[in-house]
Amino acid sequence: METVLSGIRSTGNLHLGNYFGAIRNFVKMQHEHNCYFFIADYHSLTTHPTPGDLHRNVRQVLVEYLAAGIDPETATLYIQSDVPEVAELYLLLNMNAYKGELERCTSFKEKVRKQPDNVNAGLLTYPVLMAADIIIHRATKVPVGKDQEQHLEMARTFANRFNRMYKTDYFPSPYAFNFEQALIKIPGLDGSTKMGKSESEGNAIFLADDARVIRKKVMRATTDSGPEKPGEKMSQPVKNLFSLMKAVSSKETVDHFQEEFKNATIRYGDLKKQLAEDIISFTSPLREKILEIGADNEYLSKVAKMGAEKARESAGKTIRDVREIIGFRKF
Ligand code: TYM
Repeated sequence: METVLSGIRSTGNLHLGNYFGAIRNFVKMQHEHNCYFFIADYHSLTTHPTPGDLHRNVRQVLVEYLAAGIDPETATLYIQSDVPEVAELYLLLNMNAYKGELERCTSFKEKVRKQPDNVNAGLLTYPVLMAADIIIHRATKVPVGKDQEQHLEMARTFANRFNRMYKTDYFPSPYAFNFEQALIKIPGLDGSTKMGKSESEGNAIFLADDARVIRKKVMRATTDSGPEKPGEKMSQPVKNLFSLMKAVSSKETVDHFQEEFKNATIRYGDLKKQLAEDIISFTSPLREKILEIGADNEYLSKVAKMGAEKARESAGKTIRDVREIIGFRKF
């Protein structure tokens, strides 16, 4: 049985990209493997949330994980900051993580561009904390979207470097994983290639969006002026709509609109209407559960407590071993 781990930053509600890139994989794997799922709230501090927002976001992600089908009795579902062992391993790994390699990381360079006034050390060492998250449970399979591939490569580097440095094989190598096929990237509705929480307004469909909001977002999605003759090439924004359709609609529906595109008879308004309805059918059971679970404080605190206990047991063992390997010994 392999150890599987994944996490999501608590910076806002979960969207379809999070669901198809990561959560759906967790849910499928939780009964066959030793699974850890967590809410990355230390990571969310890089953008300086207020205490109120921090707590609200963590709670919301917890509710949405549960609504999406993660079973807290089977898997270990926890909040990162409930497991301080992670912070200790992060500190230890930081001693062997180098400025040059951290600065070369694509997500760091992107943050420097996007938030030049807040290039903090936490952003630079973000991949080190992520490596600590993964190897604290000695996980090998990490279900994530395509955008996390480089972070996983770095986690492997830090795990292997630790092993080399201390002449041990204590940490196995973790790999990015998708249940069915290659790692995926769900596009946004604004024509950009990625659905994300911090992209433009209207880019993302959230699991908690109601039908009215979904229809509005989809109807406003970027397209082009449409094919003028059969066999024309598809523009990126239209490809994006088809990718979303492939995720939520039946094969017949996708084939029907693809055929219409090929023949240059397509009306984007019809495609959008169908896409919106298929997204609504897909998300409405999730939304109902989100509302139901979100009202149950007692259940949420029980889940968080149980998750923290299970996660700390595993993390505590790793930290004891690592301290011994590094040479911190009791007198
Ligand atoms: P985050 O919070 O940005 O995203 C959470 C998960 O959702 C996936 N994802 C997507 N997948 C497909 N298409 C998209 N448009 C899309 N947008 C997001 C991400 O790939 C990710 O799997 N650093 C991580 C959180 C993290 C973590 C970890 C993950 C912290 N420590 C350890 C795994 C293991 C992050 O910011 O993900």
